[in-house]
Amino acid sequence: MAESNPCPSVVEVNHIVMPEHANPLGSVFGGVILGWIDLVAVMSASRYCGHNVVTAKIEAVEFHLPMKVGDQICLRGKVSSVGNTSMVIDVDVFKVDVTSRQEFQATSAKVIMVALDKQGNKIKINK
Ligand SMILES: CC(C)(COP(=O)(O)OP(=O)(O)OC[C@H]1O[C@@H](n2cnc3c(N)ncnc32)[C@H](O)[C@@H]1OP(=O)(O)O)[C@@H](O)C(=O)NCCC(=O)NCCS
Repeated sequence: MAESNPCPSVVEVNHIVMPEHANPLGSVFGGVILGWIDLVAVMSASRYCGHNVVTAKIEAVEFHLPMKVGDQICLRGKVSSVGNTSMVIDVDVFKVDVTSRQEFQATSAKVIMVALDKQGNKIKINK
């Protein structure tokens, strides 16, 4: 039986930083993190509005902590506000310390996504 999600815009995605994500110093490239943020925002926004979405803007990106090869990374996204055809998705990125089981905020960003119909035209979002 299908179950409905009571909070459909909340999306969590986990990764382990691998050597291919990193520079020669072992820190993850900012562009890799931006790609992960974009994917979380796409999933969060499309689940919220029930349509395909495109990225209009990624803003307020702040890299608070370095992420190194072997680090476990948890990204959480949630629609924080809804306009006519656009949505703002807050994405927070955490480093997970598996020993202490604590999370440390490593990056944060706001993503603006626009809902599109099947023809690729902007479509009004039902709130
Ligand atoms: C994003 C896109 C659909 C917007 O189309 P547009 O005709 O310029 O749209 P509008 O100016 O009418 O804006 C539509 C909505 O998006 C918002 N928006 C568009 N660009 C924005 C920006 N740079 N910052 C904030 N909001 C923006 C508008 O405020 C509006 O919101 P509302 O309908 O909730 O009031 C269009 O520019 C596009 O297709 N861009 C390329 C997207 C892309 O290729 N992304 C990367 C891969 S997914």
